[in-house]
Amino acid sequence: MKWEENVRRVVPYTAGEQPRRAGVIKLNTNENPYPPAPGVQRAIAGLDAEQMRLYPAFPEKTELAAELAAYYGIGTDQIFIGVGSDDVLCQAFVTFFNSGRPVLFPDITYSFYDVWADLYRIPYRRQPLDEAFRIRREDYMEEKSGVACGGIVFPNPNAPTGVLMPVDEIEEIVAANRDVVVIVDEAYIDFGGTSCLGLIDRYDNLLVVQTFSKSRSMAGMRIGYAMGSPKLIGYLNDVKYSVNSYTMSYAALQLGAASVRDADYFRKSCGRIVRTRERAKEELGRLDFMFPDSYANFIFAAHRSVPAKEIFERLKENDIYVRYWDKERISNYLRITIGTDEQMEALYAALAKICG
Ligand SMILES: Cc1ncc(COP(=O)(O)O)c(C=O)c1O
Repeated sequence: MKWEENVRRVVPYTAGEQPRRAGVIKLNTNENPYPPAPGVQRAIAGLDAEQMRLYPAFPEKTELAAELAAYYGIGTDQIFIGVGSDDVLCQAFVTFFNSGRPVLFPDITYSFYDVWADLYRIPYRRQPLDEAFRIRREDYMEEKSGVACGGIVFPNPNAPTGVLMPVDEIEEIVAANRDVVVIVDEAYIDFGGTSCLGLIDRYDNLLVVQTFSKSRSMAGMRIGYAMGSPKLIGYLNDVKYSVNSYTMSYAALQLGAASVRDADYFRKSCGRIVRTRERAKEELGRLDFMFPDSYANFIFAAHRSVPAKEIFERLKENDIYVRYWDKERISNYLRITIGTDEQMEALYAALAKICG
């Protein structure tokens, strides 16, 4: 068929499986095992169906933007809100990666970056992590790497490795790249990492992206946001308002605001995950796994003798889902999301049988 020759073809991102059966232990998509803040449930009860007759408010004019601005001590003109951080990141790719020069990101990283780049015909180059899965900052500095880039994006902590880059190293990258936009994807920063948000007032080329999907237990509500200079945020809004003015539903805006209001619950819930993760490091070590030190709500682990694919399949037979990629450099690793203590105990028992 002739029309097919002109189709914009792309190999889509493959999301983790979403089994809905009761009894499944789902440690494969980095969701939070705890419920959102209690205020979110109350806000659901307070939703007004009459409001749904109207188009929703512009996100930057809502209580959600005001709550986020107050929480982070920045202006509402420094925040862009979207439908999960995937939407925010995709808009940022389209807005800022437009020079024709390659955008740089790590070889092992969030596997949506190359999909968006392919979709929008943005050239890119994958810079290899070192043997310990660390980002080598020299690879992102033209005077050391010899690569004149059109932008930079990486998660911190990186996914799926969980490895954290210190803020001073991020600052070196941003400072060495003042002519392009640097996007730091902080989807997992609330589990013990230090955000580089403090740099946005000094560097108008830095965009920090976060999400409600992990630390705020609201993956199903689809809320993400970017923070940066008013200029960057203005350009993002221009592109967004050229695609869809009303991206955020009335419900998402209300429930997101309720979540940010409960800072105490947020801190406690993140603390619980961090404690379980630290214990998981001990247990996995005892079970003969090795892994880079994780600052996220997952651990990226390889067993010293049993192949990851085999463990992945055997866990699945036991209704325990973790994530596995049959890809270069990482095909012997499993990414295990931190669940409740009870779920993790079931995982350790299953692993002891499979690997013992
Ligand atoms: C590194 C990273 N960035 C962004 C996202 C997207 O999250 P969401 O669209 O749910 O905010 C994910 C989700 O897994 C992720 O791992």
